[in-house]
Amino acid sequence: MRRAIFPGSFDPLTNGHLDIIKRSSPLFDEMVVAVLDNADKHPMFTVEERCAMIRDILPTVETGGCKLIVDSFSGLTADFAREQKVTAIVRGIRAVSDYEYELRMALMNRRLEPTIETVFLMAGEEYSYVSSTLMKQVFELGGRVEGLIPQIVETQMRKKLGK
Ligand code: PNS
Repeated sequence: MRRAIFPGSFDPLTNGHLDIIKRSSPLFDEMVVAVLDNADKHPMFTVEERCAMIRDILPTVETGGCKLIVDSFSGLTADFAREQKVTAIVRGIRAVSDYEYELRMALMNRRLEPTIETVFLMAGEEYSYVSSTLMKQVFELGGRVEGLIPQIVETQMRKKLGK
């Protein structure tokens, strides 16, 4: 069984994340979308809210038969990956600027758990500038983020900010 995790903060999930899920899921039988419980970073959405939104959105994704699971974790990604008995950690790369950070994480994770490889996928070029942080900032300041985040996320951001 080919099993992977796709870890992230997902605060909130963007269409860039969805693009990576679409591209990577056909490579695996099961993939756990692993939401980091990072309350100390003052996220816009609680970990429960992030997981619930992702659970609502994932049924729309064509996975090529891969079973998608949503779970949350705290602590090290490498420890969670080991507990989940996965062989791969999936990460997306949008631009060269992501590479150094991702390389450091991949090498550290490999040192922590040598049996698990990080698999990088290139995000669609239309999402090369899309990040959760940018989406929140633009939305909060009244800019349009249509097409860059799922509709469910936009609705929840609107509620959260009382817009
Ligand atoms: O969506 P993000 O914020 O780019 O995801 C980063 C994430 C969650 C993958 C990274 O911060 C992480 O793995 N955090 C858990 C703690 C950990 O394992 N740190 C060491 C990484 S080498």
